[in-house]
Amino acid sequence: MKLWEGRFEKPISPDADAFNESLSFDKRLYKADITASIAHATMLGKCEIIPEADAEAITEGLKGILADIKAGSLAVEGAEDIHSFVENELVSRIGETGKKLHTARSRNDQVATDLRLYARESIDRMIALIKDLIEALLRLSREGKGILPGFTHLRKAQPLSLAQYFNAYCEMFLRDLERFDDCRKRVNVMPLGSAALAGTSYPIDRTMTQRLLGFGDISQNAVDAVSDRDFVAEYLFCASLTMVHLSRLCEDTILYTSEEFGYWVIPDEYSTGSSIMPQKKNPDLPELVRGKSGRVFGHLMGMLTVLKGLPLAYNKDLQEDKEAFFDAEDTLSSCLSIYTALLSKLTFNFEAMFEAAGGGFSTATDVADYLAKKGIPFRDAHAATGKLVRYCIAKGKTLDRLTLEEFRAVNPAFEKDVLAAVTTRASVEARNSVGGSSQDASRHGIASIKRRLKKY
Ligand code: ARG
Repeated sequence: MKLWEGRFEKPISPDADAFNESLSFDKRLYKADITASIAHATMLGKCEIIPEADAEAITEGLKGILADIKAGSLAVEGAEDIHSFVENELVSRIGETGKKLHTARSRNDQVATDLRLYARESIDRMIALIKDLIEALLRLSREGKGILPGFTHLRKAQPLSLAQYFNAYCEMFLRDLERFDDCRKRVNVMPLGSAALAGTSYPIDRTMTQRLLGFGDISQNAVDAVSDRDFVAEYLFCASLTMVHLSRLCEDTILYTSEEFGYWVIPDEYSTGSSIMPQKKNPDLPELVRGKSGRVFGHLMGMLTVLKGLPLAYNKDLQEDKEAFFDAEDTLSSCLSIYTALLSKLTFNFEAMFEAAGGGFSTATDVADYLAKKGIPFRDAHAATGKLVRYCIAKGKTLDRLTLEEFRAVNPAFEKDVLAAVTTRASVEARNSVGGSSQDASRHGIASIKRRLKKY
């Protein structure tokens, strides 16, 4: 039965009904919908808007529906949306009294409330998943004492400690976690009591429902509250940026595990093969995660487009929020979980990484810094080192194989200690500034990440 059928002479045509329905996807909101309805009915009873006995009967009926859906004994089907489903089911269970539930409420404030309750839990789940991922990365930071090449422009730039490398991703995901947590504050505002758009003439107590539902605040403008989906766009942005960071880690994983790089190894359990080329071990999982980032960005763009130019207040366009939200949620949570699992099995080829870290004149900055520390202006030190690099290229040498005489031929300020300054390890250890690559600085980085993570 439609909640609005009294107005119409003829029933809705089946194709229009199928196009209009949302139960097929908003049934995910059943727990939030029933929880909000229990709070609403309780408040109606306490405020004597409906008799308390009716409120109790409604509450009991709703609890039964919730339990049956959870147990799988009640199929959620055959209604326009989750709100209609629950109300119809309630009336069929407790009779006429069930029809009082929708007093002082509209589906407009109801759906906004449901989605906020759902989003709040979803954010908590996401924060826990991001935390797991950061912990997996921290384990790699702590255990991986190696050195790998650091790139800019995908050309070898300077050697990095593996700890500093993984700490970099921890920082990104920590920001994502903080962003979701901040988004939660704006999600955690209750629209219930706004009714259709103008508020309600019944003497409702919104702070009572707020307390019952654990919302941090109540909305201050009913027109805004029923049409506001900023929190969905914000959630999708938080999810998108997390996917951006995951996709970068994927890209590094794909490159670093390739034959050309050979720094890391994805275990067999998280790799796939080719149906035709027997030798292949493919990084399908990182590729899929990288690819799925597009879906999440798409949902963000979709939601912004739904909201753009939407006249006040509620419009059915807003029903489009849910599939975007749910798919982004599913995509992000599965990507976070699989990557946490993959990282926990990742192994390293320490020699290959170390060897590569020393290639490509990656300690040239250290040579220039050496001269600058002897009082030569950095720009001149840079030019002298550039000359040395050119010399090495011509002679087929590397900086760490140059003799003191060769150094001095370019600049007499070079002394014997330059030979120790140009090694890969010395280069890493020299970078002891806060956030730098040295073991000490990386250890501080780990401690700082752990400290900030503890809050969640
Ligand atoms: N399924 C609808 C949605 O998701 C529920 C709200 C319906 N409100 C209405 N005025 N038709 O937005």
